[in-house]
Amino acid sequence: MKSRRLVYEGKAKILYEGPEPGTLVQYFKDDTTAFDATKKAVLEGKGVLNNRISEYIMQRLAEIGVPTHFIRRLNMREQLIREVEIIPLEVVVRNIAAGSLAKRLGLEEGFQLPRSIIEFYYKNDSLHDPLVTEEHITAFNWATPQEMDDIIALAVRVNDFLSGLFLGIGIKLVDFKVEFGRLWENDMMRVVLADEISPDSCRLWDAKTGEKLDKDRFRRDLGGVTEAYAEVARRLGILNDQPGGERKGPVLVK
Ligand code: TMP
Ligand code: ASP
Repeated sequence: MKSRRLVYEGKAKILYEGPEPGTLVQYFKDDTTAFDATKKAVLEGKGVLNNRISEYIMQRLAEIGVPTHFIRRLNMREQLIREVEIIPLEVVVRNIAAGSLAKRLGLEEGFQLPRSIIEFYYKNDSLHDPLVTEEHITAFNWATPQEMDDIIALAVRVNDFLSGLFLGIGIKLVDFKVEFGRLWENDMMRVVLADEISPDSCRLWDAKTGEKLDKDRFRRDLGGVTEAYAEVARRLGILNDQPGGERKGPVLVK
């Protein structure tokens, strides 16, 4: 294989130079980390599932007019994306109390929030991604007020759409994290959805049983991590090994 220039290596993904200017190849690793990479494992097949699940979600979001960095999937582990300047924020949207929100505010996990809540964390590993407000973000110019308006509007649309998509396949979207980037087209700049959306970056609970179908299985040593990710892919109708061998689209759960 032709050697490619590595642009960035993260905990779960690698970015390589793409075939054309302004493009990158996003490679999904099997490496899995939690708690600032103090907990690590290699979960065989996870990268393949996340590549596929993130492709599917980004495509559905593009169809409803949410701009994303995604261009197309290249193979089992790689997708072609547009090169963007990542805005250094982890944007978390929550529908049900869980994880750090439950801990911080003393809420019971599973408590239905009175409305969806958006939080911002400053992406900085050495500071452990601290929770910040729009005041910090605009004062330190991590994003402009106009960009924050776009980010919030997009995050709400992603939440509304994905909540419905997942509920249709018997899954509650408890919370998720997204990242955004700046994409320049000539002299115009747009804020677009970047990174990935997968069970690594969402909390997904089976609507009937409450079973966790996301990375909390790894964080909490529950086992069956890739099996849970595969179940999400199966319900989305994007596993190749479905009965009949056809891809059928979402499997509606009544
Ligand atoms: P939290 O409850 O730990 O703050 O996580 C909220 C959501 O964000 C959850 O769906 C997991 C996701 N997340 C990431 O994708 N990356 C991270 O570094 C963290 C802390 C959370
Ligand atoms: N904090 C991320 C997570 O738990 C991963 C990591 O920090 O290593 O999802």
